[in-house]
This record gives sequence, C-alpha cells and structure tokens, in this order.
Amino acid sequence: MNVIRRRGWELAESCATPEHVFLNRRGFMAAAAGAAVIGITPELAMAQRVSDLANMPDPTRDLYPAKRNEKYVLDRPLTEESINANYNNFFEFGSSKNIVKAAQALKTRPWTIKIDGMVEKPFEIGIDDLVRKVGIEERLYRMRCVEAWSMTIPWSGFQMSKLVEMAKPLGSAKYVRMETFLDKSIAPGQRQSWYPWPYVEGVTIEEANNELAFLVTGTYGKPAPKQHGAPLRLALPWKYGFKSIKSIVRFSFTDKRPKSYWEDLQSAEYGFWANVNPEVSHPRWSQATEEILGTGGERKPTILFNGYGEYVASMYSGLGKERLWA
Ligand code: MTE
Repeated sequence: MNVIRRRGWELAESCATPEHVFLNRRGFMAAAAGAAVIGITPELAMAQRVSDLANMPDPTRDLYPAKRNEKYVLDRPLTEESINANYNNFFEFGSSKNIVKAAQALKTRPWTIKIDGMVEKPFEIGIDDLVRKVGIEERLYRMRCVEAWSMTIPWSGFQMSKLVEMAKPLGSAKYVRMETFLDKSIAPGQRQSWYPWPYVEGVTIEEANNELAFLVTGTYGKPAPKQHGAPLRLALPWKYGFKSIKSIVRFSFTDKRPKSYWEDLQSAEYGFWANVNPEVSHPRWSQATEEILGTGGERKPTILFNGYGEYVASMYSGLGKERLWA
C-alpha cells in the first residue's frame, strides 16, 4: 500500500490556509473533485475531510507551555490538574460534575469564530489563526463558582482586550455578547429543550478591556481539554464562574445588555454582573466561605471580587441600583 508520510517540517494544507477558507472553498472543491474520481458523493468526501481535521493533534501544540506572566500571583497552591480536569460544569454535556467522557464528543477542529454586530467590519477567523496572530501567555488565576467551591488554575491564553482591538467596535457598542456552539447531535444537554440554548454570556466593553479578562486556550501548560471549554473559553476571575463561558463560537458587539443563559433560566438567582461578594448570599446558600477543591473539604473565607478588587472595583463605582453581586 502506498502511504504518504508527512515530515515534521511540512505544513498541512490546513495550517497554511486560513481554516474557514480551507474548509469552505478549497476544501469543498478538492473534496468534490476527489469524490468524482472515486465515485462517492461530495458531501461524504467533505464530511471525511472535516473529520480528518477534527482528529488532527492540536495545531498550536508547539506554543505550549507558554511563558508565565508573573504579575498574577496566587495566595494558595494550584489545584491538582487531575481534580480540575474531572470536576466540571458544562451543561451541554450533562448536569453532573462528571462530564469528561461525554465532552470528548466535542469536535474542536475545525473551529471558526464569528465576530459581528456593531463592529467596523464583521469577520470570521479560525481558532489556530487567531491564536498565532495574538500569541499566548500563562496566568495563574483563582476561580470561584457560585456554588461556593473554588479552584486555582494555570490558564494559557490571551487578554480579551486583544480580541476587542481586532474587532474594532463602533463607538455606540456597549457590550460583548458571547455564544457557545450549538449541536444537539454531540451535546446531550442541548437536547433538553427547557434550557435556553445556546449558552450565552455577556460583559460590558469596559470589562472586556479590563486587563484580567482572559480568553483561555490552554490549561496546565497544554491546549485545554474539552471539558474545560476547548478550544476557546473565558476566564473572569473576579466574577462567579458561570460568567466564564466555554467553547465560544461568536462574539457580538451590541448596545443592548445581553441576557445570559442562567439569567434567562432563573433571574431571581443569577444576574448580569455576578461579581463575587461574600456578604451577599445566594437565595439558597451563603457566599461567605468557599470549599477549596482538592484539600479534603478545607474552607476559606471568600474575598470581595474574589481578591481582585484592585484591578476591577473602580469599574463598578457609581452604578447606583444595579444588582452587582448575584
Ligand atoms: N460554559 C458553557 N458553555 N456551559 C456551561 O455549562 N458552566 C459555567 C462556566 N462556563 C458552563 C460554562 C460554570 S457554572 C462554571 S463554574 C465554569 O464554567 C466551570 O468551569 P470548569 O469546568 O472549567 O471548572
């Protein structure tokens, strides 16, 4: 049998051509031509091509481990990788914490991100092109879930302000609305029609430009595993974890405050701002302390803005009656 082996220095076509172009134009033409020769339908050939791409090793693997940005320090040890990677909230794949296996059905390549709404010119970009364009660094952040547990994670990725800069929002845009993929065929949670899919989150443009707002592509010095929201998720360490939307496919700039997934489901319990505050209880439990995962149940007092007040508090002064904490 004649097997072509690619040498290490040879770029796959998918690496040399922007991903969405590769798939939409050249990919389709090549697939159609090849299909005609061997007598299968172009659709089937295209599906095969997409599946080949999905099974490739992460094309940005060479960028890891990224250089750590030493500015962001922790007051507690890092959570063990095995704990972090096996205790997840990703409702698309189930409502338990144990979704690792189900989440492996997510195909993270090809992955196209749409930037639209109130921007100079809407565009699409493939995740690998985006990552190579902006570069990545590592940051150690705390993460506080609204359910009163917390972790500390070495995220890799880039400051969200870089994406805002690329998007060139119009002066009239006030918010960034973000959306997760929607695919019932692989995400069993999305077959449950009582949830308001797709998962949506939003921040103000000022928050998106805050230096702490971080778009995550990796964890623990490697590309992020699917259960953490590969290939692109958000980390907003001063807000409850549900604001940190996973597996993002779209950023829309808008002058209307986005209604997030949890707000849509239960606005009495979850609002737009969701900043961490130990003094404001959730309607069903206290937020005064948090369980540090991986310590056998140790609890610590929760800190206002999860300890990141020096970076973010000024954004919330003068907001009067806004419900800033839930
Ligand atoms: N993003 C999507 N798309 N779907 C989700 O269910 N859960 C949120 C957030 N982002 C969620 C999501 C919640 S409630 C939390 S606490 C964090 O992801 C959990 O992130 P982790 O599993 O990586 O720790």
